[in-house]
Amino acid sequence: MDALEALQNRTASPRLVEPAPSRQGLQEILKAGLRAPDHGMLRPWHFLLISGKGREKLGQVFADNLEPANDQEKDKMLNSPLRAPLIIVAATQFKDHPKVPKVEQVCATAAAVQNMSVAIHALGYSSIWRTGKAAFNSGVKEALGFKATDEIVGYLYVGTPTLANRPVPENNIDEYVSSWG
Ligand SMILES: Cc1cc2nc3c(=O)[nH]c(=O)nc-3n(C[C@H](O)[C@H](O)[C@H](O)COP(=O)(O)O)c2cc1C
Repeated sequence: MDALEALQNRTASPRLVEPAPSRQGLQEILKAGLRAPDHGMLRPWHFLLISGKGREKLGQVFADNLEPANDQEKDKMLNSPLRAPLIIVAATQFKDHPKVPKVEQVCATAAAVQNMSVAIHALGYSSIWRTGKAAFNSGVKEALGFKATDEIVGYLYVGTPTLANRPVPENNIDEYVSSWG
C-alpha cells in the first residue's frame, strides 16, 4: 500500500479477531515502530507482545490491581485483553539526558506506536490504541515488569477487524492549520 494512502486512511477498530499478523508481518510492524524519531537516539521504549494465554494473565493483572467496584466490572477487566489476538504494550523507560526531557521520550514512544498502527493497516490488519486506568496504575506496571516510574504509553490491540473499516472522518484542514509570519 502506498504510504500516503496508509497514513490518510488508517482507522481504529475496537473489535479485532484472529488472525493476528504473521511472524513475518509482526517483524515488519516492529521494524516500522523502531524507526520512530528519537531525540538523542535514547531508545527510551520497550514493547511487550502479549497473545494467547498471556492475555488471560493480563486480564487477571487488571482485575487484581484496578479495584473493580463489582463482579461485572471485574469480568470486564478479566475479558478486556481478549478483545484482540495480540496486544503490544508500549512503555517508556526514561533515560537521563541533559537535553531530552521526559516528555520527548514519551513523544518518541508515541511516534513508534503510531508507526506500528499505520504499518498494521498497510498490511491489511487493524488496531486500536488504548490507555485508561490500566496504563497509569503502578501495580499493573510492576506486574508487567516495568517500574512505577516508567510510563505505559499505550496498549495497541492488534488483529483482523470484524466490521468494515469505519469511514475515514472528514477533516477540515483550515480548522486546525493557519499560516504565521
Ligand atoms: C494516547 C491515546 C490513548 C487512547 N486511549 C483510548 C482508550 O483507552 N480507549 C479508546 O476507546 N480509545 C482510545 N484512544 C483513541 C483510539 O485509539 C482511536 O484513535 C479513536 O477511537 C479514534 O479512531 P481513529 O483513530 O480511527 O480516528 C486513544 C488514543 C491515543 C492517542
